[in-house]
Amino acid sequence: MREINASIPFDKALWREDIAASKAHVAMLGAQQIISSADATQISDGLDAVAAEYEANGVPEDWDLEDIHMTTESRLAELIGPVAGRLHTARSRNDQVATDFRLWVRSTVAQVDAGLEQLQQALVTRAGEHAAIIMPGFTHLQTAQPVTLGHHLMAYYEMIRRDRSRFADARSRLNESPLGCAALAGTGFPIDRDATAAALGFDRPAANSLDAVSDRDFALDYLMAAAQCSLHLSRLAEEFIIWASQPFGFVRLPDTLSTGSSIMPQKKNPDAAELVRGHAGRIIGCATALMVTMKGLPLAYSKDMQDDKPPVFEAAGLLGLSIAAMTGMVADSTFNAARMRQAAELGYATATDLADWLVREADIPFREAHHITGGAVKLAESRGVALDALSLEELQAIDARIDARVFAALSVDASVASRASYGGTAPEQVRHQVAQARKALGMDL
Ligand code: ARG
Repeated sequence: MREINASIPFDKALWREDIAASKAHVAMLGAQQIISSADATQISDGLDAVAAEYEANGVPEDWDLEDIHMTTESRLAELIGPVAGRLHTARSRNDQVATDFRLWVRSTVAQVDAGLEQLQQALVTRAGEHAAIIMPGFTHLQTAQPVTLGHHLMAYYEMIRRDRSRFADARSRLNESPLGCAALAGTGFPIDRDATAAALGFDRPAANSLDAVSDRDFALDYLMAAAQCSLHLSRLAEEFIIWASQPFGFVRLPDTLSTGSSIMPQKKNPDAAELVRGHAGRIIGCATALMVTMKGLPLAYSKDMQDDKPPVFEAAGLLGLSIAAMTGMVADSTFNAARMRQAAELGYATATDLADWLVREADIPFREAHHITGGAVKLAESRGVALDALSLEELQAIDARIDARVFAALSVDASVASRASYGGTAPEQVRHQVAQARKALGMDL
């Protein structure tokens, strides 16, 4: 029982929140004259002393004391005597743990948001530098159309922007105080829940005590936002892994985020990126774990809910590392512009531009233009040359309406420059996106 019951090995991470919530609670008990002001002061000072010990020496792990709440109360009693027993008036560990955990998730959301902002700044900075660097754009990982590296990086800026909005959304819902809901039904003492809510920075007290002690939506909101964010980081990591492989050679990863091989001296492995990709699996697993833990629980608290904390702590640790790793990778990688351009010039990436030219200049319906272009690609392929290496005569043999102006449309530069529709890949559009993003991030103040 001791072993299965104890949560102190992991919930000791909540000690700061536990002390803060207890201090808010005892101040309220004193103000409401539920306990004497002198006792309230003595308990509050005692809690400060316990906090100072935790800060200096860590939280002692006595499994008989089960959790952080009992550990703190027991140490408080050792320090100040039986008056410590008055702290637990008009509360229960059920509202206590729900309060502590909300506070913890709230601060982790603030940290994630700060980390994601730095990642966005790195993306925007590199995108601005590489607004006109041409690379192949892919669909199905097959060369599709030339794009700019800045455009590609700004795609991730958008994903992270949505992630931050999901975390902000989670934050706005979580900020209600369970404190004072007691075991499940509220309390007969004349407590002031508005006061404790305000003291802990909550927007308001939670409205239903049964709900508040058994609600873990806030942890799930966090985990699901974390899962989606980790998925974006994993996709970005995957891009770097592919780009850094020798056949691609688009990027040289920072040495600080790579490792060598123990037997192959030439190797430089993208371990940090691979771990970001791997961590996403674990973070998604954490979200799944808590959903499954919660799905069958009747109201109100059940001990299953003690298992809420490990997945949240695990996900938070992994996500923090993943964000830091990807920020470093974006900020400090060296992109190989020549190699990217070379790749963009292979694979008939400007075939769509030929079709578009036929539509624009020869008034040919797009479907027919697509067919004509297919013939040109086939011919170029059979000769092993690029589209713009076909002669005018060869192109005119495929369709007589083609004239010499077409060559201007077949370069990768002309191709990206032409895609200047809103949100498109043209350098001028990318610069516009970057400028908007820098403004949103307050980078040019
Ligand atoms: N250690 C418990 C948890 O983390 C605290 C709440 C215990 N409540 C109870 N009624 N046993 O969930």
